[in-house]
Amino acid sequence: MDKLVIRGGNPLKGSIQVGGSKNTALPLMAAALLPDGPVTIENVPALRDINTFSRVIAVTGTRVDFQAETHTVSIDARGLDRPEAPYELVKRMRASFYMLGALLGRTGRARVSLPGGCAWGPRPVDLHIKGLEALGANIELDEGYVVASAPGGRLPGGKFRFSPSSVGATINVLLAAVSARGPSRIENAAIEPDVVEFCRMLQAMGARIQGVGTRVLEIEGVDRLKPVTYRNSPDRIELGTFMIIAAIAGAPGIPITITSADPDRLGSAFIEAFRQTGSGFEVDGSSVLVTAPEILIPVNIETGEYPGFPTDLQAQWTVLLARTTGNSKVRETIYLDRFKHIPELRRMGVNAIVVGTEVAIEGGNKIQGAKVMSTDLRASVSLVLAGLVADGETHVQRVYHLDRGYENLEGKLSNIGADIERVRYDEWADPE
Ligand code: UD1
Repeated sequence: MDKLVIRGGNPLKGSIQVGGSKNTALPLMAAALLPDGPVTIENVPALRDINTFSRVIAVTGTRVDFQAETHTVSIDARGLDRPEAPYELVKRMRASFYMLGALLGRTGRARVSLPGGCAWGPRPVDLHIKGLEALGANIELDEGYVVASAPGGRLPGGKFRFSPSSVGATINVLLAAVSARGPSRIENAAIEPDVVEFCRMLQAMGARIQGVGTRVLEIEGVDRLKPVTYRNSPDRIELGTFMIIAAIAGAPGIPITITSADPDRLGSAFIEAFRQTGSGFEVDGSSVLVTAPEILIPVNIETGEYPGFPTDLQAQWTVLLARTTGNSKVRETIYLDRFKHIPELRRMGVNAIVVGTEVAIEGGNKIQGAKVMSTDLRASVSLVLAGLVADGETHVQRVYHLDRGYENLEGKLSNIGADIERVRYDEWADPE
C-alpha cells in the first residue's frame, strides 16, 4: 500500500491547478451510454473512481477508452449487450448505481447490484428506486441486485417529488426520463452544479429538459439522443480544498494562485465563510488568488444543499478551524455521522469533539505530526491538510481513499513548496 509522508511547516507559494470534476465526470460518463454512437468527454481527471466506472461501463459490452494523459474518455455504446453492473465493482464505488437509470433508459432493462453502506453511514438508495418506479419501471430485488424493466421496452414517464433532494437520485431519474415515451416532471430536484452540468450535456445530445438549475425539471422524452463531444467542468471540491490549504499553509501576505477554477460552482455559503476567516480571496478570470492572513478568524459552518456549504468540504474546514485562535462549531446536515476524521485529527493534537451532529473545535492548539489512517476520501485529505501545518512528520496511511478523488496531490503540493512524498509500506509489518 502507499502512504503520504509530510514534513509540515513549509510556507507554500506559487500556483496550483484544479483538475476536472470527479462528481460531474461520473454522470457525464453515464449519459454517454444513451446515444447510439461515440461520445467524447474532455477534462476527465485521472482518478481511481474514473477507472472503476470505466470498468463498470465496459462490463456491458460498451467500448470505453480513457486516456489519462490527455484526460479524455471516449465511450461507444453501440455494442452494449449486457445491461448489468456486478457487485464486485459497484461495492467499490456507489456512483456505479448510475448504471440503473442509464441502462433502463438505453435498453429498457437493468440488473444492478445494490451498493452497500459507506464509511459514514447507511446511505440509502430508496429515492433512486422510487423515482424510477414513478416513471413506470418495474423493480424487483434479486439476491442483492436491483432488477428493473420498462413495460414494452420503454418507460412511459411520470412525476416524482424528491424528499430530501438527492444529487444521485436526480441524476438516475433523469438518465431514464430523457428517452421515455412520454413527459416526466421532477420536483425538488437537486441543483448542485454537477446536476446542472449533466443536464447541459443531455441537452447538447438533444434531450428536452426545462427548468435546468431550478428545483422543478420538466422532461419530454425523445426517440433518440445524438453523440457529442463535451468538456467536463473544473472540480469545485478540489478548488475548495486548495483554497483552505492556501489559507492555512500559504506564506502570509503572498497570494497562492489557483488556476483552471470556477468559484461559482462552490456556492455562496463557502465563499462567504471563507472571506470571514480573514483570508484574501480574489477572482481573476479562471484563477482564484488566496492570501493567508496573519491570524485566521473562526467561522462556524453548517453543511447544506447547494448553494449551502458543501459536506465534501466539512472535514477540511475543521482543520482550518483548528488553526484559528478561538472556539468554533461545524454542523453536518447531509450525512449526520460523517466525522471519521475527528479521532485521527485528535491523534495529531487537534482538540475537537463530536456531539451529535456537531463538532466543537478549540483553536490554537499545536498540531503535531503522527501516523494516521485514511478512512474515506475527504477525511483523508483533511489529514494531509493537518500534516502540512503540523510540527514534525505525518504519515497518512491507506491513501487509496485519497486517490479516489485527488489526482497527483503530492505532485501538485510539492510544486508549491510542500515537503510531501508517496512511499510504499507494509501495513502489517512490525514496528522498527
Ligand atoms: C453526492 C456526491 C457526494 C456528496 C453528496 C452531497 C457524487 C458521486 N457524490 O452523493 O460526494 O457528498 O452528493 O452533496 O456525486 N438519500 C436518501 N435516499 C436516497 C438517496 C439519498 O435518503 O435514495 C439521502 C442521503 O442519505 C443524504 C441526502 O439524501 O442524506 C443527500 O444525498 P445525495 O445527494 O443522494 O448524495 P449522493 O448523490 O450519494
